[in-house]
Amino acid sequence: MKIKKITCIGAGYVGGPTMSVIAQKNPNVEVTVVDLNEARIAAWNDDDLSLLPVYEPGLDAVVGEARGRNLFFSTDVDKAIDEADMIFISVNTPTKTYGKGKGQAADLKYIELCARQIAAVAKSDKIVVEKSTLPVRTAEALKSILDNTGNGVNFHILSNPEFLAEGTAVTDLHNPDRVLIGGEDAEAIEALVQVYEAWVPRERILTTNLWSSELSKLVANAFLAQRVSSINAISELCEVTGANVDEVSRAIGQDSRIGAKFLKASVGFGGSCFQKDILNLVYIARTYNLHAVADYWEQVILLNDHQKSRFAEKIIKTMYNTVNGKQIAFLGWAFKKDTNDTRESAAIYVADHLLEEEANIIVYDPKVSAEQIYKDLDYLGTRSPEENRRLVKVVTDPYEALDGAHAIAVLTEWDEFKGYDWETIKEGMKRPSFVFDGRKLLDRKQLEELGFSYYAIGE
Ligand code: NAD
Ligand code: UDX
Repeated sequence: MKIKKITCIGAGYVGGPTMSVIAQKNPNVEVTVVDLNEARIAAWNDDDLSLLPVYEPGLDAVVGEARGRNLFFSTDVDKAIDEADMIFISVNTPTKTYGKGKGQAADLKYIELCARQIAAVAKSDKIVVEKSTLPVRTAEALKSILDNTGNGVNFHILSNPEFLAEGTAVTDLHNPDRVLIGGEDAEAIEALVQVYEAWVPRERILTTNLWSSELSKLVANAFLAQRVSSINAISELCEVTGANVDEVSRAIGQDSRIGAKFLKASVGFGGSCFQKDILNLVYIARTYNLHAVADYWEQVILLNDHQKSRFAEKIIKTMYNTVNGKQIAFLGWAFKKDTNDTRESAAIYVADHLLEEEANIIVYDPKVSAEQIYKDLDYLGTRSPEENRRLVKVVTDPYEALDGAHAIAVLTEWDEFKGYDWETIKEGMKRPSFVFDGRKLLDRKQLEELGFSYYAIGE
């Protein structure tokens, strides 16, 4: 079976870039990405490619090549479902904020809504692909909804989790370590294999049963996050023993059994996936009464929370135990460089901690808007929106944030921070001039020679 029309429900950080690359590499397949969010779809259709709703290096060129040729963005979900042979579900699956499993389980309401809409609209057989990250055995529930509420047509369900990382989405999609496809129906699996075979070597396309595929996505994120928490745990030990965490990372990472990646100590991992997916894994383990398994993985999250608050505490303690009324400049708000995504960014929690101590924070991030920063703080509900706006200022010129500051905190590893005129910055700051480097980004020697008091994680 050759796929001619693909629809993707959800035009977010995954749906947008993934479908853009599928369309780019399969010019004979018509790809339509739909979303309920009209503003988001309008932004995907904007003539000005610098205004796409997702910032990813290289994405503008991919969209520019395929959009209008065989890549379309639309809010007409029913039409796109009706016409497609294959439907990807790429909607958000956040942690539940209510009811059973609150704070841990994945909220599947958006997935279920999609399934019901597909079932109601479909008048011909469809292959439905889980692109969203889902709890293991979700395909069973999907199949049940589709078969019980549909019009008697056949649905084949595949699991095809996405492994792209934000900030490198386009290169990850162009050159994936592997593509994973789980399913039961050989013909449906082969149809999806052919879509990827347009650019991914066959040996990198793995096929498994549905449950292995669903579970592997959660496990991959748990293993990656576990490495970050492991090295962050060691960073605290380095600080009290005189060891240097970068040197330890290098020393252990050269062991080919350990490997060098994901060993960079930091202020704590963020992003929309790691915490959500581990909490989900923990919840699933608990529902099967596997408490030792659940406790083991939960510790990855607890250590990450500790790392974020430890960084904020370090700032307060170093600044003579009070930051009240002091100006602390935040360099970066995004959860990592090269993305405008702030979900679960460590910056949010460090800011919240310092704001409890009545610090004044000035934020500069090259890609994150003031509106988003206030939204992130307001969402926590720790203080009123007015109070957040009184204590936090957002600027578009980094030097404005740094001028007159008592301290600088580096929260995101944006490359541009390294090239700033640190001599001029030093002159404009209060003394002693503190720098707290949560990303181990800046040059200790250079800053100390200029007279900064420099702290970096794990040193
Ligand atoms: P997102 O919030 O950026 O995008 C989801 C989109 O789905 C939103 O625009 C929303 O309006 C839309 N949507 C929700 N319900 C809808 C409906 N019924 N009909 C039409 N549109 C609907 O989320 P994301 O970051 O793209 O993540 C999507 C999924 O992919 C999640 O399950 C996530 O865990 C997984 N994932 C994310 C990443 C990542 O790096 N962000 C990587 C791998 C996997
Ligand atoms: C992650 C997975 O890498 C990706 O495969 C999956 O599809 C989605 O989740 P993402 O969250 O976009 O991707 O970025 P990632 O590069 O994994 O970084 C996650 C967080 O960990 C960031 O806050 C990053 O700064 C932090 N991190 C990463 C470290 O602190 N140290 C490291 O060595 C690596």
